[in-house]
Amino acid sequence: MSPPACFRPRVLTDPDSPRSLAPGELRLRCPLCGHAGPMVDAVAEADDLLCASCGFVFERRGGIWNALAPERLAYFEQFVRDYQAIRASEGRGSSGAHFYLALPYRDLTGRNAWQWKIRARTYRYLERKILPGIETGHSGGLDVLDMGAGNCWMSYRLALRGHRPVAVDLLTNDQDGLGAARHYFNYLSAPFPRFQAEMDRLPFDSAQFDLVVFNASLHYSEDYSRTLGEAIRCLRTSGQLLILDSPFYHREESGERMIEERREEYRRKYGFASNSICSREFLTPTILEVLARNHCVSWRILKPWYGIGGASRRNSSCCGAGWERHDRSLSSQVDDTAKSKIPLVGPQSGCTPRG
Ligand SMILES: C[S@@+](CC[C@H](N)C(=O)[O-])C[C@H]1O[C@@H](n2cnc3c(N)ncnc32)[C@H](O)[C@@H]1O
Repeated sequence: MSPPACFRPRVLTDPDSPRSLAPGELRLRCPLCGHAGPMVDAVAEADDLLCASCGFVFERRGGIWNALAPERLAYFEQFVRDYQAIRASEGRGSSGAHFYLALPYRDLTGRNAWQWKIRARTYRYLERKILPGIETGHSGGLDVLDMGAGNCWMSYRLALRGHRPVAVDLLTNDQDGLGAARHYFNYLSAPFPRFQAEMDRLPFDSAQFDLVVFNASLHYSEDYSRTLGEAIRCLRTSGQLLILDSPFYHREESGERMIEERREEYRRKYGFASNSICSREFLTPTILEVLARNHCVSWRILKPWYGIGGASRRNSSCCGAGWERHDRSLSSQVDDTAKSKIPLVGPQSGCTPRG
């Protein structure tokens, strides 16, 4: 399905074009060379755009823009293969639209009901306690970046709320990746844009979003500081950032233990540990504190109630963290005992970087 013209990323012909865009317009940035305009129509394929500086082609296939350079596609190939194999064996996704339309509130397949129960709790909390504050003063809706969007259920829910989501993920498949968003488009006035892209090289020019949401996705980052830096670059100055449903431990040792146990479980079940990239896999108060310091931001920790045993499943807990420029309320919650043990940048032990 071809999205309507208003959702076509805007071709930037004037580098000094105004910061404030009409709804649905996006200024692109080349993920290969960082050039932020102009982009020109590729000759061969009317839908494709070309970076005027390095020639990188933003191809649109099945309504999804590819914004991953070939070497980055190759870098993530093994991760995507392992991840998709695990997700398929967990029974993720469905062939029918009903499954997707019911998310996050109900898992109609029943195969991952416990996890969707957590997602639903978090999302209800977001709807009731967080979004209303962020929406104040944005009666025309928010420009939202849904980072690691998966099947795009969050983008769909935000679009129903009158916002303008843009979904980013490495996966494009129809069950669990950006391709699954097609189930939503009959129920929206216009489809939202989807980009196959990586968190650390976002294909967007700076300062275009009011909100960045990492829902169960930030912990896949290999370098939190870089990932956060990219997200902040894309935010307007009054923008906010939410980290939801990521594994959160007070002590690094507990997080490391979780990683070891999970790798062992994967080796046993699937024959591989799914560690081809060096994802950080969890957050701690210390990590958040260091990030806040390095990026001159401050966090507000929010704690939805997951019920007894809810969030403690798989020995982890879920984290809701909000970023605001001027809020100083987090510092008292940081676990001082773990301070400075966390290498903010760099691979985890036992992890072999590729590419
Ligand atoms: C656990 S899923 C969460 C999906 C969705 N946000 C949700 O709440 O159901 C994590 C997603 O992050 C994506 N992801 C992992 N690493 C990424 C990266 N470097 N850049 C973009 N997406 C990434 C995965 O492909 C996956 O779809």
